[in-house]
Amino acid sequence: MATDRVRFGVIGAGGMGSGHCTSIPNIPNCTLAAICDTDEKTRTAIAEKCNVPVFDNHSALLDSGLVDAVIIATPHYFHPPIAIEAFQKGIHVLSEKPLGVTVGAADAMLKAAKESGKKFGIMYQMRGERQNQAARAIIESGRIGKIYRTSLIMGWFRTQAYYNSGGWRATWDGEGGGVLINQSPHALDLFSWLGGLPSRITAQTRTSLHDIEVEDEAVALLEYPNGAHGYIYASTVETPQIQRIEICGDKGKILLDGSDITLYELDNSIRQFSEETDKVWAAPKPTEIPVELAPASDKHGHTIITQNFARAILYNEPLIAPGEEGLNALEIINGMILSSKTEKPVNVPVARAEYEALIQDLRASSRHKKTVKEVRETDPNHV
Ligand SMILES: NC(=O)c1ccc[n+]([C@@H]2O[C@H](COP(=O)([O-])OP(=O)(O)OC[C@H]3O[C@@H](n4cnc5c(N)ncnc54)[C@H](O)[C@@H]3O)[C@@H](O)[C@H]2O)c1
Repeated sequence: MATDRVRFGVIGAGGMGSGHCTSIPNIPNCTLAAICDTDEKTRTAIAEKCNVPVFDNHSALLDSGLVDAVIIATPHYFHPPIAIEAFQKGIHVLSEKPLGVTVGAADAMLKAAKESGKKFGIMYQMRGERQNQAARAIIESGRIGKIYRTSLIMGWFRTQAYYNSGGWRATWDGEGGGVLINQSPHALDLFSWLGGLPSRITAQTRTSLHDIEVEDEAVALLEYPNGAHGYIYASTVETPQIQRIEICGDKGKILLDGSDITLYELDNSIRQFSEETDKVWAAPKPTEIPVELAPASDKHGHTIITQNFARAILYNEPLIAPGEEGLNALEIINGMILSSKTEKPVNVPVARAEYEALIQDLRASSRHKKTVKEVRETDPNHV
């Protein structure tokens, strides 16, 4: 390995992977060294765009000696087995989100990462955005006090044509879920990074708009170890798209609305004020505090995460999105699907064997036929 550059292989060169292939050559500390895709048409198309060796299977790429690290951008079920093989072959791994489909498979991935001593990152690019970095720093500083309520509203939109663009999409067997496993991981990662992981989840999911067999709408009530409550709504049926996170504490609250951040600080703790005041109609006084943000970056979130990952390999820079932390979003996703299917509250960490059995049943019954019109196109928001 050159001392200032990491040689990357991209495994899966579809919508997202081809975006990585295009952007890597322009990212400092990164070189695109090899690509792999199991689909011949995709290989031909990417080979015309990128002047690097293109393999038809991930093992050949991992054995080629051409790469120090891989970005895995295949459908989710393949992330854990490919990552485990890469770690066993001494190669660093940056996995696309989510880590995998089940917490059990993700556990095995984390174990292999630890045993290899190689760097393990996950593409949670929203963590790199300045308003989210600021929110995390405020919460970590204790400024809003003990959290007593959280909420996440993620109303996104996807067309039927999107769902039809790949046979694996929105099927239990090919994808392992709908909006929860595909679109919501970013928001759930941020939400749990800021508000922590709930200890109990009661959820409902349904398919309300699209011709798919998995959920396009999901809601959950959350209970946290400290007694706090939370709420999640996630869907692909709403436009204009919104993503709102509220983290409410005893001394203040943070509201994240897309790229806007608002911070309120109270002049007294809610609990203390309520106990001590003799006034009937009163409340702690909130003040809106301007939040200092890092200078706006012209780099896309993926670029920030990929460069940070390369610098973690080269210079031991701390990872913005460590692979181990990818487990948090998956606990919530699996917990919500399990709760919805069993119609019962579910404890977190999610029972591994129970979830594995559920997903096997769902995969076995996966026979929904939609009209597939294959398109591998990078989301314009991701280039
Ligand atoms: N970070 C983000 O913002 C973001 C955005 C979009 C997609 N993603 C993630 O990227 C992954 C891929 O999604 P996509 O939308 O690019 O899908 P896609 O269907 O467009 O591309 C997947 C590609 O992987 C290839 N493939 C399948 N199995 C393979 C295997 N075993 N080895 C090598 N190649 C294989 C397919 O032929 C296809 O070209 C998903 O896990 C998704 O969640 C992340």
